[in-house]
Parts: sequence; C-alpha cells; structure tokens
Amino acid sequence: IKHGLVLGVESSCDETAAAVLCSERGLLSNIVASQDEAHRPFGGVVPEIAARAHMSKIDTIIDQAVSEAGVDYAELSAIAATAGPGLIGGVITGLMAAKGLSASLDIPLIAVNHLEGHALSPRLTDVCPFPYLLLLVSGGHSQLLAVHGLGDYERLGSTIDDAAGEAFDKTAKVMGLGFPGGPNVERWAKDGDDRAVRLPRPLLDRENCDFSFAGLKTAVARAYENSDKTDRAKADLAASFQAAVADCLTDRTARAMRLFTENYDGPHRFVVAGGVAANQTLRAHLIDTAKAHGFTPIFPPLKFCGDNAAMIAQAGLERLQAGRVDSLNAPARPRWPL
Ligand code: KG4
Ligand code: ZN
Repeated sequence: IKHGLVLGVESSCDETAAAVLCSERGLLSNIVASQDEAHRPFGGVVPEIAARAHMSKIDTIIDQAVSEAGVDYAELSAIAATAGPGLIGGVITGLMAAKGLSASLDIPLIAVNHLEGHALSPRLTDVCPFPYLLLLVSGGHSQLLAVHGLGDYERLGSTIDDAAGEAFDKTAKVMGLGFPGGPNVERWAKDGDDRAVRLPRPLLDRENCDFSFAGLKTAVARAYENSDKTDRAKADLAASFQAAVADCLTDRTARAMRLFTENYDGPHRFVVAGGVAANQTLRAHLIDTAKAHGFTPIFPPLKFCGDNAAMIAQAGLERLQAGRVDSLNAPARPRWPL
C-alpha cells in the first residue's frame, strides 16, 4: 500500500491520545488528553487511576481525532496503537479499543512499540532520513539509540536505574515543587546558582553510553534535608541538580556521537525526543555537544516530544507502507525493549 490514512492511539502512561495521519496530507488531527490533574495529589502517576481515566475517555478521544481530521472511519486504512512498553492497564485499554475498530472496519492493526513512536517522531515534521542518533529522555526512559532504519534500532546506552524525567519528578517531590516535576524544577532553577550545591555525576567518563540517575536523586534528597529549605536554597538545589543532569546527558551523548561517527559518514543528525527535551538548559548544552561533534541537532516540536498519538500514527504509517502489520492477537506488553 502506498497511500495511507492511519489512526494512531496512545495510552501507555498518563495521556489518552489519538491522531490521524495521512501519507499525502500529513497530520490531520492530534488530540491529547492529559491526566495530570488526577495524579497531582499523589505526586506521580498512579497506574490504577490512569487505567480508569483512559477507559472513560478513549472512545471520545478517538471520535474527536477522526472528526477533527474531517475523515470518516470508513476511509481509514489502518489503526496503530501502542502495545507497550508502559502501564499495562492503560496499554490494554488503548490496544483493545484499536483491536475493536480494526475488526469492525476490517483494516489492519499495527501494534506499535511506544519507544519506536518516540524514535520516529522527528519524521513527522523534520527532514530526517535514516540513519540518525537519538537521545530519548522521558519520564519512563533514557536511551541513546542509533536509528538505522524502520525497525532497526541499536541501543547504544540506557539507564541502569531511573529515567531522566523520573529524576526530575522525584527531585521536585522531595523539594515539594509540584507535579509534574520537570517544568517546576526548570522554573525554580532559573533563579538558582548551579554551582551552589556539589552533586554527583553518575557514570561520567564510563566506557559505555549508559545513564544512572538514582544516586543523583538520593544526593538531592540529602542536600535538601540538610539545607535551610528557603526559596534561595530550593532554587540553588534545583539549578545544581539540573546542571548535574546536563553533564551526565552531554557526556554520554558525546560518547554515542563518537561511536556513531565511526560507523557512518556525514551528514550526521542528532534528535532529542521525550518530555525532558522541553528543558531549555538541557537543550542548550545538547546543542553545544552536537555542534562540537559535527551533528545537526533536531528537536521535534514540543507537542511531539511528550507522549502523543501522532508519533504512534507515524510509526504505524511507516510500518503499513512496509507491509509490517500485526494480527488481532498482538499482545499488550508491559516490558518491551526496542
Ligand atoms: O515523554 P513524556 O511526556 O512521558 C513519558 O513517556 O514519560 O515525559 C514526561 C517527563 C516527566 O518526567 C516530566 O517531568 C519531564 O518529562 N519533563 C521535563 C520538562 N518537561 C517535562 N523534564 C525537565 N524539564 C522540563 N521542562
Ligand atoms: Zn513516552
């Protein structure tokens, strides 16, 4: 199939999302319903609450995506849904909705790996031919991937404990800065001195491209306990934490860039995806790292960095065009390494 109209569905964490992507006309709709309000009192995503919220919204969100796209269900050529990795209750909800539609419309189902969605997200908007280097930093994942082609991803490094976004969320929680943590830590860090508090840089200069953030999180908690907890102290700690994350990300990324350069002649592209890519300080550091290694940095628009269904539709469309569709018994997978 060359021409395609794909409905994407995403429900693996705390956004219920649906989008319609056309191979000729591009992205026709992109609906994201965030559950932040529901999880805020708990300072983190509660799986059971997430599953129920997905369940109560998924049909309306899908309907809205189809109608805003100005298309009819009958015109769809495939349904792509996140089949993992993620919180299993949410994944099952979206995947089963997609299976129902796939069966009733008699069109293919594409069971998409959420991480592949993030990996292909730059191709929604940017000229981004394979291969490219990808840094995926979200609430659930921190990985450096060489994206060789569709379905051909080489993990150069990943976190051995917490994800980068998780470190931001936990840091915010410890300091009582509110949920979700990333944007709040960034806001507080603006007024702080990033050299005020000495914090560890886990795995710096290590031979591989792996990340580790658990030790940093613990150090932040200890530093906060020992501080006078004033606004000044909070701002300094937020800034110092952010600087430590920046050092870890750029050190690991620089190493991945050297590996990538050994395998490919230029031009080299470096994509940063995932919710943490919204952070302006981290961006500035990563842009410097990219320039120093001869890579063109690509930051997909923020709405495609956080969880969304457009990226799932993108992966679905590329898979559809490659003839890689799935059967109706595709499993929902809480764990699914790319
Ligand atoms: O990609 P995403 O929306 O969802 C996941 O798949 O996890 O990423 C959400 C994560 C959260 O941990 C959030 O705190 C973090 O991205 N985040 C940020 C910023 N905005 C969101 N981290 C640092 N700075 C930000 N400005
Ligand atoms: Zn994600």
